[in-house]
Amino acid sequence: MKTIKKIDSLRKELYLYVKKRIGLVPTMGYLHNGHLSLIDQSIKENDISVVSVFVNPYQFGPNEDFNVYPRDMERDLKLLEERGVDILFSPDSKEMYPENFSTFVEVEKLSKALCGKSRPTHFRGVCTVVLKLFNIVNPNNVYFGAKDAQQAVIIKRMKEDLNLDINIRVMPIVRDEDGLALSSRNRYLSKREREAALLMPEALKKVNILINNGVFDANEIRKKIVGELKKSKYIKIDYVEVVNLKTLKSVEIIDKENALVAAAIKVGETRLIDNFILGEI
Ligand code: PAJ
Repeated sequence: MKTIKKIDSLRKELYLYVKKRIGLVPTMGYLHNGHLSLIDQSIKENDISVVSVFVNPYQFGPNEDFNVYPRDMERDLKLLEERGVDILFSPDSKEMYPENFSTFVEVEKLSKALCGKSRPTHFRGVCTVVLKLFNIVNPNNVYFGAKDAQQAVIIKRMKEDLNLDINIRVMPIVRDEDGLALSSRNRYLSKREREAALLMPEALKKVNILINNGVFDANEIRKKIVGELKKSKYIKIDYVEVVNLKTLKSVEIIDKENALVAAAIKVGETRLIDNFILGEI
């Protein structure tokens, strides 16, 4: 595996593979099996796989965890090497955002829904860095996780709106044995907090069964999840919403082909998200 930190060097390296299928997996590192599932899929579907590890400052709000976001490049390198990744792109902030950087990409409306309400500049940061990575790598296929369903919906919108000739692949959520969706932020959780956090996947599982049994009233589903989450005093609910999978607008009646049931909570200081999707992003 080649580790490349400069945009020019990466471009030069990729010139060697003009006629090859290139897969890109954008990450912020501290890799877990969720990331690795995307990487495995990229390796399966492409001739060359590029993984980026870059903790993108612009997608963190002023009071968020940018400075303490977990980083372990040595461990990430080993995992990527073992997996058979061809190129690791790990630029520093100055390389991605030189002085006078001033262009941002904003996908309107969708970026203000769900997580956008409490993280108003988050998706602008995500879209900007993702579009930069697309332009630098020029991939055929790019891999995202359904864990960040809103992110995937927004990036697909950006692809359509800006006519990007890239195939966006959205892969299923990978969970730990106890059901908690894997996240680099899980390492912040104490034992007690982790136990509390499990209420979220459990609640989602319960309402998934309800929906499969024909309960399509979005409010009833929402209330059920809120009720389950309120069982722990360690949980602070950010939102629980049932929305249309394309518009991310609240619905009253759940469409089994086109809905997203999404929740975000804070357990102690740690913000966690989870969801289930009816249909395809
Ligand atoms: P990060 O949180 O590192 O996630 C990188 C990719 O892994 C995202 O597409 C995310 O949805 C996916 N992922 C994370 N946890 C997962 C899980 N449990 N199961 C399946 N996929 C999972 O998302 C970002 O970084 C950033 O916003 C980024 C796109 C890299 C832009 O900076």
